[in-house]
Amino acid sequence: MTAANPPRLAFDTADPGFVRLPWARYEEIRARGGVVLNEWVNRWMVSDFAPAKMIMTHTELFGSEKGQAEQAGVFGGPTMEFYDGPHHDRIRAIWSHDFRAKDLAALRTMITDIIRRRLEPVLARLRSGDTVEIVAELTRGIPTEVIARMLGIESGMVDQFSAWSDAMGASAEGYTNPGERGDELIAAGRRATAELNAYLREEIGRLRASAADEPGLIATMVRHQYARDHMTEQEVVAGNTQLVFAGNETTAKLLAQIVVTLADHPDQRRAVRADRSLIPAAVEEVHRYETITHSVFRDVIADDVSVAGVAIPNGARITLLLGAANRDPLRWERPDQFDVSRPKLSHLGYAFGLHSCLGMNLARLEAQIFLEELIDALPDWQVDSPVDFGTNYAVRGPAAVRVSAS
Ligand code: HEM
Repeated sequence: MTAANPPRLAFDTADPGFVRLPWARYEEIRARGGVVLNEWVNRWMVSDFAPAKMIMTHTELFGSEKGQAEQAGVFGGPTMEFYDGPHHDRIRAIWSHDFRAKDLAALRTMITDIIRRRLEPVLARLRSGDTVEIVAELTRGIPTEVIARMLGIESGMVDQFSAWSDAMGASAEGYTNPGERGDELIAAGRRATAELNAYLREEIGRLRASAADEPGLIATMVRHQYARDHMTEQEVVAGNTQLVFAGNETTAKLLAQIVVTLADHPDQRRAVRADRSLIPAAVEEVHRYETITHSVFRDVIADDVSVAGVAIPNGARITLLLGAANRDPLRWERPDQFDVSRPKLSHLGYAFGLHSCLGMNLARLEAQIFLEELIDALPDWQVDSPVDFGTNYAVRGPAAVRVSAS
């Protein structure tokens, strides 16, 4: 297959119908060989597990740096996600210890307390027969408060911090939702980014001037020799802003998706309730089955590159369809079936390789504790359908979930 004559499709990735149910489209791409040029967005799309993993492995052929300008708008400056060379590795190394599973285990009590405190009033309302919209009232607040505590944000600022984080998360819908409402969301997101940047800049200045060894991830970066010698002020601010954004919208949607998927599969929920050792597997299976980050982007940065036998020109932009890769029948038996007992096999929900998610162990820990607490407290629940998935395809997940427990 040549670049001049590739398999083509044309579809809008912001179409709410596609965002809610992308699976048939993914199968169409797979049926065409797994690599197509989507003329609607002028991007090459890759649906299968092995080629997607190959692309994320070969950073000498597929780069991330072209997206920097776009990213600067979202975070207020360039971040590790958009560097591929040694600068990426050195920035990532500053926090890598803080996100290791064994170091995060020390945060279990703090995270459990946050989840219990936020879950309790929701449970009380559910038990009294109310219907509760859990994205706004429960799942959004959990990762925001956790990361605020990890960053070392003073407790009086946590509500303001959550409001910034929500506005930043909601702005993604604005880009895929043209019109007055979309413009408002984008403007509110930009304002929130600017205010969060300004707050962090002040914090960074204060920490630099402070002689005390203060706790928290902001202080860790500020004190780090590499940040002092080789990172610009803008990079330090954007790096901290990225942690807020990268972890909150994604984790909040994973938590909401756990509620939805287990409501849709009561037999599986009962199996998890009967055997709590299934909780980590249930969290991974919800993530594989639905996937949260459905698209990550790479650019071809070399000549004579081909993917699954399809030549892709230098400079072309590629979208890796992680949700499709996570249902590749070459990797999973019965990929369209939700099965918490399936043999353990890694999925691509946190990407792979150089840019694999820095916060994956934190997201996993939060999701596991959330499910432990929920399944203990509530034997049974239902969600109103259809669930609204909005128009954000990049971070796909329930935009609103109305839960009842009659
Ligand atoms: C369910 C929750 C999450 C999902 C689905 C998710 C997904 C991802 C994915 C797919 C990437 C790779 C992007 C790419 O290759 O272009 C990524 C990168 C990243 N994630 Fe997450 N993420 C989650 C939670 C978190 C959390 C909690 C944090 C931190 C608090 C975090 C911080 C990051 C950072 C810093 C990167 C960039 C890593 C690098 O470029 O080396 N994420 N995430």
